[in-house]
Amino acid sequence: MYTPAITGSGVFTPDQVITNAELVEAFNAYADRYNAENADEIAAGTLAAKEHSSEEFIVKASGIEQRYVIDKSGVLDPAVMHPLLRQRSDDEPSLMAEMALKAARIALEQAGRTAADVDAVICAASNLERAYPAVAIEIQDLLEIDGFAFDMNVACSSATFGIQAAADMVRSGSIRSALVVNPEICSAHLEWRDRDCHFIFGDVATATLIERTEDAEGAHFEIRSTRCATQYSNNIRNNNGFLRRSRPDGLADRRDMQFMQNGRKVFKEVLPLVADHIGNHMAEEGVEAGDLKRLWLHQANKSMNDFIGRKVLGRAPEPGEQPNILQDYANTSSAGSIIAFSKYSDDLEPGDVGLICSFGAGYSVGSVLVERRD
Ligand code: COA
Repeated sequence: MYTPAITGSGVFTPDQVITNAELVEAFNAYADRYNAENADEIAAGTLAAKEHSSEEFIVKASGIEQRYVIDKSGVLDPAVMHPLLRQRSDDEPSLMAEMALKAARIALEQAGRTAADVDAVICAASNLERAYPAVAIEIQDLLEIDGFAFDMNVACSSATFGIQAAADMVRSGSIRSALVVNPEICSAHLEWRDRDCHFIFGDVATATLIERTEDAEGAHFEIRSTRCATQYSNNIRNNNGFLRRSRPDGLADRRDMQFMQNGRKVFKEVLPLVADHIGNHMAEEGVEAGDLKRLWLHQANKSMNDFIGRKVLGRAPEPGEQPNILQDYANTSSAGSIIAFSKYSDDLEPGDVGLICSFGAGYSVGSVLVERRD
């Protein structure tokens, strides 16, 4: 048996930003157009008018101030309201592969490794650009990695579930190392015309390199243990799938073909699930709240993270103990906790213990307990 470690991590951030002000202006223009186009039905009471969104609400309800996206032009055009992403030919790298590659190269460089040192690629994300061939195999090919690759999807928990899969393979000795990549193009599954959720998501790609601790070239995070759990719920759901076009009512524009959530219920149900999950994981590992130097949490909602931090530590987290990145990135699905880890882990000292935790649709929750080593 070998001890796995995160030896490198990387974030690729798209260069286009949408501020809350831009987002709300576009949404409100769309709502006005919709109300004007449907004035008769709205006046007759057969259709509900669309209400305006507000920057104040978005910041207060979520803590989100802006989001990065692959394409803002379509999202901010009241006549379009979704990203305009060019269909690539089969001979070009797919968008997900291209983003993942950029994050993967940063992770490899941080670990002092090249692709030749990697045995496996796991592309773990909440949506996949196509059914097959696996995006992970395309990334493997682009990096010229020997070995194998596969895609997996556990929604917002994909990254931690991917790390568990990679860590278990490294631990057993079936591979020496794996790249876990999380290209999240959330802008393409968000319904930008729905006021209740149009502010939630952004795009990003993250990557982690998992190796044997004994192979680590420099500072790294030993993976002490991982825990994954799932519990079925319809409260976060997207019905878009390959059976869509076979259904007689398979209308492309149906609301359930994009991200849907019952945000309030998610809030209430997921909080205790996550707090208990982390508490049990720490207890099983003999880690006390006072031993935990950092919590890198899934980035969906600031008050949710504040609540989890308080519950886990038994007090309000000190600044820096539980870094949030969602004010800049919004919710980037499975990549959120890895962005936080990647940006806020360098300062930890050898022996410091931290916990990465993601949670979301499924419901799903995954935690990775790590210890800094030099
Ligand atoms: N602008 C202005 N007002 C808005 C609005 C907007 N963009 N969106 C909703 N509102 C209104 C609602 O209509 C509602 O009005 P009402 O009280 O008159 O009915 C009010 O604001 C409160 O809405 P609500 O949806 O209850 O807000 P909330 O405080 O629950 O916050 C979320 C909404 C989505 C930010 C929050 O529920 C959340 O983050 N939940 C967890 C989400 C999560 O983790 N999801 C996982 C995804 S991977």
